[in-house]
Amino acid sequence: MKTFLVMSPFPVSENVARMQSSATMAAMQAAEALRAAGANVCDFGAGEPDFDTPDYIKQAADRAMRAGRTKYTAAGGIRELTRAITDFYKREFGTEYQPNEVMATSGGKQAIFNAVVTLINPGDECLIAKPYWVTFPEVVVFAGGKPVFIETEDTGFVLTVDQVERAITPRTKLLILNSPANPSGRVLPQAQFRQIMELATQRGIYVVSDECYLRFVYAPGEVFSAASLPAEVRSHLCIAGSFSKTYAMTGWRVGYALAPADWTRAMLKVQGHSTSNVNSIAQWAAVEALTGPQESVGTMLAEYTRRRAWLLNELRAIPGFKCNEPEGAFYAFPDVRGCLKKGLKTSGEFAQRLLEEEQTVVTDGAGFGAEGYVRISYATSMEQIQEGVKRIRRFAEKYS
Ligand SMILES: Cc1ncc(COP(=O)(O)O)c(C=O)c1O
Repeated sequence: MKTFLVMSPFPVSENVARMQSSATMAAMQAAEALRAAGANVCDFGAGEPDFDTPDYIKQAADRAMRAGRTKYTAAGGIRELTRAITDFYKREFGTEYQPNEVMATSGGKQAIFNAVVTLINPGDECLIAKPYWVTFPEVVVFAGGKPVFIETEDTGFVLTVDQVERAITPRTKLLILNSPANPSGRVLPQAQFRQIMELATQRGIYVVSDECYLRFVYAPGEVFSAASLPAEVRSHLCIAGSFSKTYAMTGWRVGYALAPADWTRAMLKVQGHSTSNVNSIAQWAAVEALTGPQESVGTMLAEYTRRRAWLLNELRAIPGFKCNEPEGAFYAFPDVRGCLKKGLKTSGEFAQRLLEEEQTVVTDGAGFGAEGYVRISYATSMEQIQEGVKRIRRFAEKYS
């Protein structure tokens, strides 16, 4: 007689079982399903530029491939790339990072992952301001740590040193900063950034500064990196950076970490035993991105600036909407609680019904820790934005 093994459910580890799936990915999938069914979808869900990767970067990839640069590289990246990254920080922010303080990673996401898992022990607390990018708390949970959220609605989603101070406990090990921020588009003023870094250093708290939107700051704001702070407040700092948004290279998967040598060594150990090097061809493309002509960054910023001005004006005129000014990145994050009437109770229902009734995708703020808000990405064409806003207005008028 044959015996059959009875399949039991996959015994997922406790740390992974505690993680949430990505809310932003869910919005993307919902839009995809509607599109596949033939609907004319207005998609404000995208967390990536609608621009193509500039041609000079693609050409560098082509040359690298043809020259046979298709083998393993050092786990932390080719010297040309790490050098281009540290040269950029020296040029822009006057910071001298050494070769043992930099590594290339598969997107900014891997830099954040490396930084968190090399530091956090079970029970350690990590401070995260609300609203947060969805991945921050999940990586902390994966590492066995405890995300401790800081409410910032009272200060227009801009973190203050007092808010950080009140949230610190003897178990606080790490603080994650993100400016310009996803989803709020807010930018931490330089003086506040410095005060927070000084406090963290005094208390021996490590900081990850996620600077993936570094170059997308709207005038009169200025590009600012934690790297430009004095060395004494950078002793506990890891910068997570990315090529994804700056050069419209989301699919290439190139980012970097800049951190003290001992932290970098630990991160290299993790990366060396997991993904190893970033795709070798993408690394050469990234060298060209940083060292080649930079006009494309300005062109994208100018277009985001144009869209932002139009969109902000329109959103503020929609009944039931309130909207802070996005000072960076490419997201508006309106408060839609004024529309949560006539059967709508949550921003999740708002987003769901907007999708069903107007085939328009926005991302529910609850996934970012801000129930009552929705994220609207303007990394999409002006025509799409105009059509989408028309639909959102029609929807809001029905429910407010
Ligand atoms: C705040 C923030 N950090 C990091 C990332 C990661 O980007 P990547 O891994 O493509 O560099 C994203 C992507 O959406 C983001 O919004």
